[in-house]
Amino acid sequence: MRLKDQIEHIAPVVAGILMMATLSSCGSGRSSGGENSFREKTDSVLALMTLEEKLGQLTLYTSYWDVTGPVMRDDYVEEIRAGRCGNIFNAHTVTYNRSLQEIAVEESRLGIPLLFGYDVIHGHKTIFPTPLAEACSWDTALIKRSARYGAMEAAASGLNWTFAPMVDISRDPRWGRITEGNGEDPYLASRIAEARVMGTQGEDLADPLTLAACVKHFAGYGAPVAGRDYNTVDMSELHFRQVYLPPYKAALDAGAVTVMAAFNDIFGVPSHANKFLLTNLLKEELGFGGFVVADYSGVEQVIPHGVAENRRSAAEITFNAGLDMDMQSGIFVEQLGAAVKEGAVKMEDIDEAVRRILQVKFRLGLFDDPYRYLDTTRENSIIYSAEIMEHALESARKSIVLLKNEPLRGRKILPLKNPGRIAVIGPLADNQLDLLGSWHAAGDHNKVVTLLRGMKTHFPGSEINYAKGCDFYSTDRSGFDEAVRLTQNSDVAILAIGENQAQSGEAASRSDLGLTGVQEELAQLLISTGKPVVILLMAERMLTFEKLDNNAQAVLNAWHLGTRAGDAIAQVLAGDYNPSGKLAMTIPRNVGQVPIFYNYKNTGRPLDPQNMYTTKYLDVENAPLYPFGHGIGYSAFEYSNPTLSDTSISMKDTLRVNTRVTNEGPADGHEIVQLYIRDLTASVTRPVKELKGFRHVFIPAGKTVKVEFMLTVEDLKFYNQELEYIAEPGAFKIFVGTSSEKTRESEFKLIQGT
Ligand code: NOJ
Repeated sequence: MRLKDQIEHIAPVVAGILMMATLSSCGSGRSSGGENSFREKTDSVLALMTLEEKLGQLTLYTSYWDVTGPVMRDDYVEEIRAGRCGNIFNAHTVTYNRSLQEIAVEESRLGIPLLFGYDVIHGHKTIFPTPLAEACSWDTALIKRSARYGAMEAAASGLNWTFAPMVDISRDPRWGRITEGNGEDPYLASRIAEARVMGTQGEDLADPLTLAACVKHFAGYGAPVAGRDYNTVDMSELHFRQVYLPPYKAALDAGAVTVMAAFNDIFGVPSHANKFLLTNLLKEELGFGGFVVADYSGVEQVIPHGVAENRRSAAEITFNAGLDMDMQSGIFVEQLGAAVKEGAVKMEDIDEAVRRILQVKFRLGLFDDPYRYLDTTRENSIIYSAEIMEHALESARKSIVLLKNEPLRGRKILPLKNPGRIAVIGPLADNQLDLLGSWHAAGDHNKVVTLLRGMKTHFPGSEINYAKGCDFYSTDRSGFDEAVRLTQNSDVAILAIGENQAQSGEAASRSDLGLTGVQEELAQLLISTGKPVVILLMAERMLTFEKLDNNAQAVLNAWHLGTRAGDAIAQVLAGDYNPSGKLAMTIPRNVGQVPIFYNYKNTGRPLDPQNMYTTKYLDVENAPLYPFGHGIGYSAFEYSNPTLSDTSISMKDTLRVNTRVTNEGPADGHEIVQLYIRDLTASVTRPVKELKGFRHVFIPAGKTVKVEFMLTVEDLKFYNQELEYIAEPGAFKIFVGTSSEKTRESEFKLIQGT
């Protein structure tokens, strides 16, 4: 008899979902504390399992691919068959995953279906902008749709679990993985984190077009010392709770069913072995009822971290800390059996970890139909569908940030007005692979619309010529002459420079954030021709380019925008789309300013240029090159002073903040109106500005719109010295504006009482 027939009381899947919906609020330590009847279902499976089979459910291995496709490797196939491996990652396509699922379901003793995980970070086959780029759209509905479409394609490829979203706050562009996150700000990153979870998991996890999400990396992975990947993270718990914790919490509140531990140590203990993090904070305080998976070999890595002597103690300390699933180390399945027998690990804790994992499998509907994600018709119809390709274009357009658009000889360069001849230059101009960006999953670079192709499509009346000019790293200047000649013979040059896709992402930290090779030299040379030159910075992190910025008239952050990159950039340059992106991360002037962020503390000696002994550098100003929230378009927006519904509010009141924004033209456009606060005096030091809201408005040229924000005491809360989350009475400033720097302000008081 198959497992499905043996499980008692298998209620309809939908009932399981309803029951699980309450799980996240009732977890306690190892205990998931789920509804009784749901627990009965997992318990009826547990009752049939040997210890080894239980440990198999706590085990995740990567599959292997060669250049042409999947390779069935005996090591993991045999483990699946023996019930010693319950989960696989990096395997996709319906045919391949079906063959593995058949082994699990038809050939293992209990037939428990496999989870299939994969890093679907910014799309699966159709690739969207890298997450940091997309965060610059500040468009949570759009971002939710990206997660939804990525999940649809991945689920249609036989996957049911993604290792996304990454929600690590980072204020350090040296760290290559900033590309996978949502920037520096806890509020914006939280709104995006919840959008990505909701898009990925949909309304119903059993829907075969959704995936289980995995919030990562818990915790603090975005703050490694010196920006070097995998390095130690050290900060006060107060700072951690205030800045780094909110996006994880938002993602969990949005219902994420799995969490990945981080490679770094934090508070002196590796995250994988950190009981405070995984049990006390995550499972108990935040009530997380899903399961915690290790990062790649993270269990084994507690040995070099220096907190475990050998594989046995690595297994014990990570499992006892609250880690439920081992990724790739194979240590849980190898060591935990003996640890249980010797009493170092409790059998009831093993059961609880298995229960958490099986519950996710139940919620995905895998016990009802283990092949529900494995349908070739769906695979063929969904992947690269017109709707998803159109979304890729929309997302790419909205991610572009116009940093600067100054006049040259009295006329702004952008948007381009019927240029007769356009020179398209640079290592990213006729490039497909790098436009996909890092972690581009199963994306196919042959599908990418290059900048050159996009320009030809969207400027049909112009003559378009291309020269590469230079490469990313090389100091070869032999292409300079051709690039200069083309520029001189054109009405405008579009220069696409930046990074290749391997310069950002995991293990891609940099100590110098300048343009590599001779790219900047080429840019300065083209500008010196006197012709209009548009600088497209196509990279995944904030680069330093102050000198170039001083000389250039038009600069855009055009990132690595994915499959429709070239179309999106060309539409923006043509003015078919009025750019609306705003920076989700500050751009420094030089690497010495890093970490740099808008929500810094005032200090006891705030900057006073007249006073030597105030907080500053001797060789660079404190202000960044471009601040958080900055981004212009082809219209000028004018803000009125904010008006408040009252000058003081009680702990129960709502404060209404109104402002009027006028589009002074010349083009219709989108504006992202930003609201910041400052708590002027509190029991702990507070930032000089904190984002608390933003609104997207479309304003036709010449028109004015009224924008209203509501603030409640929840928006004024912070952690005090006792780590209580509270609001304190006193005066607050309100800022409303177009960026974190360009704001208009007002003031109100929070008063005690109701
Ligand atoms: C290591 C990365 O840190 C993590 O984000 C990713 O999900 C795993 N590898 C699996 O690919």
